[in-house]
Amino acid sequence: MKNVRTALGIALMVLTGAFISGCTGGNALPPYTVAMGANPKRGKKLIESYGCGSCHTIPGIPGARGLVGPPLMWMGRRTMIAGELPNSPENLVRWIKDPKKVEPGTAMPNLGLSDQEARDVAAYLTNLR
Ligand code: HEC
Repeated sequence: MKNVRTALGIALMVLTGAFISGCTGGNALPPYTVAMGANPKRGKKLIESYGCGSCHTIPGIPGARGLVGPPLMWMGRRTMIAGELPNSPENLVRWIKDPKKVEPGTAMPNLGLSDQEARDVAAYLTNLR
């Protein structure tokens, strides 16, 4: 009886593992880490203080339920940023620092983030996968 349960448990673990790895897809960006000059924890605080959540729904940010811009879930797995730039940490920094330079007609304002702040915010967003 115990063996049957163990076997079932292992089968379930294998199945869950296959399911999870199947869902992450092949083209996810690698996790953006402190080693790359950015700190996702600081990015989270910056997202809160700059009020990105007034326009965006953002996982893990309390009260971030805005509907003006697209929801920012799965940013680490997107192919494009705002339909304009191929998704990479560098391009995410470019977008966050000056969206109108990338797409002149966009409704997203330039919020005046410094380079380091934009990197930290990009790190948080890139880790949403
Ligand atoms: C006044 C509303 C507003 C604020 C505030 C705002 N955004 Fe946006 N954001 C938008 C809109 C609108 C778009 C869609 C842009 C487009 O596609 O032209 C957008 C697009 C984006 C995208 C691309 C999303 C995608 O699906 O490709 C990212 C990333 C992003 N914003 C991050 C941020 C961050 C980080 C902040 C805070 C520093 C922020 N936004 C603040 C309105 C806003």
